[in-house]
Amino acid sequence: MTDKYAVIGHPISHSKSPLIHQAFATQTHQDISYQAIEAPLDGFISTIERLVSEGYKGCNVTVPFKFEAFKLCKQLTGRAQAARAVNTLFFRDGEVLGDNTDGAGLLNDIEQNLQCKLLFKKVLLMGAGGAAHGVIWQLFNAGATITVANRNVEKARQMVAEFAPYGTVFASSYEALAGKSFDVVVNATSSSLADALPPLPDGLFAAKSLAYDMMYGKQTPFLTFAAAQGAAQCADGLGMLVEQAAEAFFKWREVRPATAAVIAQLRA
Ligand code: ATR
Repeated sequence: MTDKYAVIGHPISHSKSPLIHQAFATQTHQDISYQAIEAPLDGFISTIERLVSEGYKGCNVTVPFKFEAFKLCKQLTGRAQAARAVNTLFFRDGEVLGDNTDGAGLLNDIEQNLQCKLLFKKVLLMGAGGAAHGVIWQLFNAGATITVANRNVEKARQMVAEFAPYGTVFASSYEALAGKSFDVVVNATSSSLADALPPLPDGLFAAKSLAYDMMYGKQTPFLTFAAAQGAAQCADGLGMLVEQAAEAFFKWREVRPATAAVIAQLRA
């Protein structure tokens, strides 16, 4: 019997998730269906209840419902707790478990696809909103030294506070980055959506550094700035999108799909 999955968001029509998961299913010979479902803004919980009653095995959750999904779950993985957001749900015997694969998606893209290992690397994470929360635990877990920069520094301080007892994490304003350099700079702000650039000082990119914008689909001001500033490698978030999907697929199906061909297909 075909196992049913879906992605829930609002809006959802532009989601690439159905295409990605169908490609994974074909490649791994899994009998699944995967649809995009637009829930009304006030109808996320009722949509989940419907999927559970219709026998779905799980779903992905995207903007703007990731925090609502987090609050809904009585059972959460550690990485979902750290992210305070859920992008992957599992349904079994009427129970709902929440996970977050965004951080793993970013980490796999950086370490495997882009061949940049994070152990002992100096990472600058820009932003302290939902997107940054979703990935900080995984960056920390990879053994990186992390600086979180945000316009509102207090939000950055709150974000690093829970990690501070266990390693090297700092909160910073953008101005205070002057004179510092990093091996990896990740843009987890929403600035690219508005074609804006956070106020970054010159000289931020160390030799062989990687600039990573979690947004995809267009050349962002951040990636243009990074290339001009001498970042050795520039990447958008398309790889992360496919990798977070692969991690969810793996958790649902217990088989890990290969991602390179799917990333190449989406780029084309
Ligand atoms: P998301 O879920 O996409 O992370 P969010 O929770 O609203 O969205 O957070 C947006 C993040 O982008 C915040 O860190 C915000 O910085 P502030 O907290 O200081 O507002 C950051 N951001 C948005 N536009 C920005 C810009 N033009 N320059 C720098 N940071 C920006």
